[in-house]
Amino acid sequence: MTGTLSGRVALVTGGAQGIGKAICVRLAADGAKVVVADPGVGIDGRGGDASLATALAEKIGGAAFPRSIANPGTAEEAVAMAVGHFGGIDILVNNAAILRDGFVFKLEPADFEDVLRVNLSAAFYLTRAATGVMRDQAKAERGGKPYGWGRIVNVTSTAGLYGNFGQAAYASAKAGLIGLTRVTAMDMARSLVTCNAVAPFAATRITDSIKPQNDAQIAYKARALKAPASAVADLVAHLASPAAQSVTGQVLGVRGKEVFAFAQMRLAKRAVVGSGGMAAAFEEIKGAFADQSTDLEAFNTDPVV
Ligand SMILES: NC(=O)c1ccc[n+]([C@@H]2O[C@H](COP(=O)([O-])OP(=O)(O)OC[C@H]3O[C@@H](n4cnc5c(N)ncnc54)[C@H](O)[C@@H]3O)[C@@H](O)[C@H]2O)c1
Repeated sequence: MTGTLSGRVALVTGGAQGIGKAICVRLAADGAKVVVADPGVGIDGRGGDASLATALAEKIGGAAFPRSIANPGTAEEAVAMAVGHFGGIDILVNNAAILRDGFVFKLEPADFEDVLRVNLSAAFYLTRAATGVMRDQAKAERGGKPYGWGRIVNVTSTAGLYGNFGQAAYASAKAGLIGLTRVTAMDMARSLVTCNAVAPFAATRITDSIKPQNDAQIAYKARALKAPASAVADLVAHLASPAAQSVTGQVLGVRGKEVFAFAQMRLAKRAVVGSGGMAAAFEEIKGAFADQSTDLEAFNTDPVV
């Protein structure tokens, strides 16, 4: 126990397995009380095993919310559980995600919508519920003066920043989380609550499920399986700590011992349409066009572990 998060209450969605589990274990080791919100579903969101969340909660002295948080009512119930059991909510980690891949010309609308609901809408439902409580806590200066306990971390993916074949639903949701992160950071700035996005790389069942299509992807998978989930938890714990009070609205990444700060969408090049028409203006701006690399290609290097 480091005690740096002593007195604080965290809610981690998808906290029973993989990266979420590592985050729960780490936040609890740092002294936080943790609500593990996770129905223990398969990678595609189907099935369920409530015992995963209850067993972990018992082990780390937290509480289990072994139900889906992908609707406004249950998201509110999960936040109410944190407040009811432990007296507040200081750290929200929107980590839950499911995967339903398929080429954009084949993907079923129902699968797209299910992925958006779990990976993006649920983060909004929880943020909405938690920020209401956090604003009151800020006014009451919970944890001391000035208030500095409120933290929201949205677990995104480089798939949302770069894209990847067949991941229309997953990438759309993860890109959407960046917008949610920025606006939450802005809306909560007056309450001194920070909100950041983290794109992780870690060995979990998701990494294990990658089906390599070529040699480059075989190499990518082998490298990806070297990065431990505990490194992602280290970054989240740092963001939750007093040292990161002024860090907000950022898109970060972590892969083993590497941490990344991602550039965000900004105006890259401007041209004015003149006598040469649109074609001439395009000539001026095309140097700033983005390449078409996938995230697997962009990060096809050995992680530092
Ligand atoms: N593993 C990686 O390298 C990697 C890379 C990029 C992004 N991510 C992101 O990291 C996060 C964790 O991924 P992981 O690799 O640990 O995957 P995982 O499948 O092991 O864990 C996801 C967890 O979310 C839970 N979950 C799913 N639907 C839920 C719902 N409706 N309500 C509550 N919980 C729900 C699952 O039960 C599971 O425990 C995800 O957001 C994922 O997109 C992971």
